[in-house]
Amino acid sequence: MLKLLLILGFLNLEFFITIRAQDPLDCFQLEDSECPNSNVTFRLYNSNEPFGLLIDADTIEGLTLQSSDPLKVIIHGYNSSHSGTPNLELVPQFLQIPNISIISVDYSNLVPDPCYTQSVHNAHVVGRCIGYFLFPILNSNATVTEKLHLIGFGLGAHVASFAANYLSDLGLKVPHITALDPAKPLYVTTDLAERLDPSDADFIDVIHTDIFIYGLMQPVGHVDFFPNKGVVQPNCGPIDDIDTHHCYHVRAVEYYAESISSSEVFWAFRCRDLYGFIVGECEPNNDVEQMGYFVRETARGNYFLMTNGKPPYCKGKDFSNLDRTLYGETYLGDALVSKLKELGPSLRVLTTDIRK
Ligand SMILES: *[C@@H]1O[C@H](CO)[C@@H](O)[C@H](O)[C@H]1NC(C)=O
Ligand SMILES: *[C@@H]1O[C@H](CO)[C@@H](O)[C@H](O)[C@H]1NC(C)=O
Ligand SMILES: *[C@@H]1O[C@H](CO)[C@@H](O)[C@H](O)[C@H]1NC(C)=O
Ligand SMILES: *[C@@H]1O[C@H](CO)[C@@H](O)[C@H](O)[C@H]1NC(C)=O
Repeated sequence: MLKLLLILGFLNLEFFITIRAQDPLDCFQLEDSECPNSNVTFRLYNSNEPFGLLIDADTIEGLTLQSSDPLKVIIHGYNSSHSGTPNLELVPQFLQIPNISIISVDYSNLVPDPCYTQSVHNAHVVGRCIGYFLFPILNSNATVTEKLHLIGFGLGAHVASFAANYLSDLGLKVPHITALDPAKPLYVTTDLAERLDPSDADFIDVIHTDIFIYGLMQPVGHVDFFPNKGVVQPNCGPIDDIDTHHCYHVRAVEYYAESISSSEVFWAFRCRDLYGFIVGECEPNNDVEQMGYFVRETARGNYFLMTNGKPPYCKGKDFSNLDRTLYGETYLGDALVSKLKELGPSLRVLTTDIRK
């Protein structure tokens, strides 16, 4: 359970940090940053290997990709592995796409619960080792790089950015990163080398589903989607329970997984920012974009949509019953929410767009 909730003043809304009780003796922090590292492993999934094949630097040499073949790299987050979220949800959906290759990264030994602080430290090494692993494949043929798509969940979204930075230092710009509810705790920083930001790839799409606890509130991509305001996801449980927030966090993955094969579209409409959405500055309009796998790479800005409470989550272009209220919807309590709304423009500064 949540042992300590540090609220460093409501002005610093982005500075909510949840810290769990932890025994530092059980927590492992990587000392050096040598790659390859036996705690960062890779599995290949494709039509021939639907259950995944453990691969290393030698076996990867044999991986032949056609220039038209998509290459997805899935990066899990804190307290997960190749068999947990988001692989569990995404791999079966991706395998339906012809000629796809999926590389699933496993670094579970480096991010066990309750060792969050050490996990954040280790994430840098994991990112570097992913870049180190991918470099020979990408460098051998530029058309393969064009097909590269990194998908990270929670902590894994920042790991994707570290991998991209490693590759960019070697002259390879990653074309596309998808960030599924990128992690907030210890990632509220203006140092862009320390977290995901739009300079990390040519195109970054982000889905925010738990902006008050596990996920970042501020836009960090070229296009940022806020299903159900990014605040509460339907049918997850009581708002003051930390398990409920875990459910909100994982919804980002569930929405993305559904978008891969759904015949419906997660349409979302544009609003300046979350504050603007909540105070009703924007009505559903024609400036719509598609959230999820089929997102347009030219999409820019912040987009809002509602979902159903259970699968299929997608509501298409149904923008009725827009819920803009925060009252009764967050553990913050209504008094604090009122205060936040009074802050108005200052809140806007706090959640400000970092896009240039
Ligand atoms: C890169 O891969 C594509 C597709 O397999 C192929 O057509 C092209 O000749 C390759 N280029 C090089 C330089 O190997
Ligand atoms: C960590 O993962 C285990 C196994 O999936 C799960 O039972 C546990 O609740 C998770 N802990 C947290 C903090 O999410
Ligand atoms: C899949 O690959 C095969 C063999 O290279 C090719 O003939 C086919 O057109 C590809 N399909 C798609 C949808 O790219
Ligand atoms: C892998 O992680 C374990 C802790 O889970 C650690 O004891 C070991 O030293 C790590 N190995 C490497 C090569 O980092």
